[in-house]
Amino acid sequence: MARRLALITGASSGIGAAFAREYARQGWDVALVARREDKLKELASELEEKHGAKTLVIAADLADPGAPQAIVDKVAKAGRQIDALVNNAGAGQPGHFCDTEWADQARFLELMVTSYLKLMHLTAPGMAQRGFGRIINISSVSALVPTAKAHTRYSGTIYPGIKSLLIKASEALGAELRDQGVHVTVVAPGYTWSEFHDVNGARETVNNVPDYWMLKAEDVAAAGYDAVERGVPLRVPGAFYKFMTALARILPDPLARALMARQEKTIEGK
Ligand SMILES: NC(=O)c1ccc[n+]([C@@H]2O[C@H](COP(=O)([O-])OP(=O)(O)OC[C@H]3O[C@@H](n4cnc5c(N)ncnc54)[C@H](OP(=O)(O)O)[C@@H]3O)[C@@H](O)[C@H]2O)c1
Repeated sequence: MARRLALITGASSGIGAAFAREYARQGWDVALVARREDKLKELASELEEKHGAKTLVIAADLADPGAPQAIVDKVAKAGRQIDALVNNAGAGQPGHFCDTEWADQARFLELMVTSYLKLMHLTAPGMAQRGFGRIINISSVSALVPTAKAHTRYSGTIYPGIKSLLIKASEALGAELRDQGVHVTVVAPGYTWSEFHDVNGARETVNNVPDYWMLKAEDVAAAGYDAVERGVPLRVPGAFYKFMTALARILPDPLARALMARQEKTIEGK
């Protein structure tokens, strides 16, 4: 059987690069998407050499509304079909909502929501038709716990809402495609070592969080791969975050908010 192809967005660093390594290690070919082509080419060479994976490098800005279609077209032009999609690309939108330009919020939504939905819309029908497909969307623990200003100051006021939408959309699409061999999983990581907090200016604040809060990108990717293969709709990687999100589900809302306020002090280094 020909090797299957996984398309991974945001593959030039962090969680996306870790997913690319995980898929290649598991015997898949990979299509790597991000803006920094040099980083993608470096990773492609590594994966070809180490795992014999065939790679496609696709430089694209996913805040551009035309990007998802152009990406899918490039894969088709290379004579390949997308068997797995990892929607992962992302960045924060720091600053108070009221002080930001709408144009910036609109680009944020395009990157963090529309590109994810559009890529699913473009790839899921083919997967369903062929009776095999895997879709992973990267959400965040921030969608599953009460909202704290310490989180949204750097990632963006609408970040937890965006990540919540991904959870609901993934669960619903997963239910629609369950009988057609397409597994849809949403992964909700907590704080993870990557470039994310350097890009959004939160590195100094994140240095205040205890080590046991920090996840490794490769562990997030391994958890996501395992979950989608097993057909698990939602996976929260790491024991600490499993406990925290379970607690948030069962505690009365005021108590969960009070706990979050205490955590916020830790994040702020108080
Ligand atoms: N790190 C955390 O603590 C954490 C926690 C929960 C959820 N997440 C989520 O995990 C995902 C991956 O983040 P990460 O932690 O791995 O951060 P990262 O190391 O900064 O990686 C982000 C990736 O997204 C790509 N990207 C950013 N803007 C893009 C654009 N306009 N077009 C195309 N690609 C773009 C970046 O590549 P280029 O710059 O080369 O384009 C990079 O490959 C994000 O969706 C994030 O919200 C992260």
